[in-house]
Amino acid sequence: MDILIVGGGGREHALSWAISKSPKCNKLYCAPGNAGIADIAECVNIQDNNVSAIVIFAKKKAIDLVVIGPEVPLVLGLVDALEAENIKVFGPSGNAAQLEGSKAFMKKLFKKYNIPTAAFECFTDFNRAVAYVRKQTTPIVIKAVGLAAGKGVVIANTENEAIDALDQMMNKKKFGAAGTEVVIEEFLDGEEVSFFALVDGKTAIPLISAQDHKAAYDGDKGPNTGGMGAYSPAPIVTDAIAAEIMKTVIQPTINAMASEGYPYKGVLFAGLMIKNGKIKTLEFNIRFGDPECQVLMARLDSDIVEVIDAAVTGRLGDVELTWKKEAALVVVMATIGYPNSYTNGSEIKNLKQASEINGITIFHAGTKAKNGKIIANGGRVLSITALASDVKSAQLKAYNAVDTIDWQQGFCRQDIGWRAIDRK
Ligand code: AMP
Ligand code: GLY
Repeated sequence: MDILIVGGGGREHALSWAISKSPKCNKLYCAPGNAGIADIAECVNIQDNNVSAIVIFAKKKAIDLVVIGPEVPLVLGLVDALEAENIKVFGPSGNAAQLEGSKAFMKKLFKKYNIPTAAFECFTDFNRAVAYVRKQTTPIVIKAVGLAAGKGVVIANTENEAIDALDQMMNKKKFGAAGTEVVIEEFLDGEEVSFFALVDGKTAIPLISAQDHKAAYDGDKGPNTGGMGAYSPAPIVTDAIAAEIMKTVIQPTINAMASEGYPYKGVLFAGLMIKNGKIKTLEFNIRFGDPECQVLMARLDSDIVEVIDAAVTGRLGDVELTWKKEAALVVVMATIGYPNSYTNGSEIKNLKQASEINGITIFHAGTKAKNGKIIANGGRVLSITALASDVKSAQLKAYNAVDTIDWQQGFCRQDIGWRAIDRK
């Protein structure tokens, strides 16, 4: 098959890496890709949100399968545009993508179909939102309903912080149209896990467990990011918990989406809070997590192209996934300043030495090749991924590779994996 991957982050590098290993993959393209992806795929200079240019390219090259990484092209309806041209594509339709594209849509679906989640109300009127906040206790969570690149959630510790967040989103339009409506919800504490399933419209099969680290700095301190590191397996997701998540969260959502007329196909990613074995859904995403995808691909033994093809053609019921027994852990290296402002253009050295360490795979995110050098070109820049007998050994190996890399403008958390390691 000739395959096109849409996106250019660490997640798309991991997907390209897994797909390129499949005997079913003939020619691999990635739009726009990055300097690491360029080693295994032909990178095409089309941005991931340029729906019409992607469709024209896929038609011109007679692409057999398109795999979409990020949420924005999914919410923009790239799947519908490709399917209209009879091009096979893995991902939800624009309507189904509302699960991530609109938190109001998602929360109302949870309520209608009794899917466990935090208590909430939605508001389009600032004064009503403020009046509601004044009647609640703190901490309280304020969310812009639309896509805000992972920044549209504020955990307010005081009433004033909550009102300020509402003012920023609803009046000052900090996230543009995404904040015209807000969700105000109960604060949940517990342990957060990422749970993924592949879905073919009606059948869902779970992937192996993974856990992310959202906060920028050690000890889960600092601002929220897209994710600073992940590992798999996540010990909190026992087989019993995984079965419960499938039964109370994933399958009811697939059924609900079909009943609403938006059958779901693609990756369904539930962000869950678990406390004392009780599961609540924080959010749905309509794609693989980044960096969770890096550890999932490191552990996947099955042929991913076969699996994706089964999802696209409604045959997931026949698929049995196989995984490596080893644990995987990924440390994200980011440019100093991320997730706030940072400067592109610094050189990264010794990548080759680091990638030659046994069990290490380095996935690129924001990188660019310039005169034979690798240059940082984004917030999250590298995903240093290790496979080893257990999470602790994978952690040691990943940090050994991090220490081998010479990048003055880079930083990473030093404690990725702490929950899994402390638990033992
Ligand atoms: P979301 O995009 O809705 O997942 O929110 C981003 C992050 O904010 C989540 O990954 C959690 O760490 C945190 N968060 C969201 N909702 C809540 C909540 N109700 N209680 C506690 N933390 C939350
Ligand atoms: N790492 C979390 C996400 O991709 O949303």
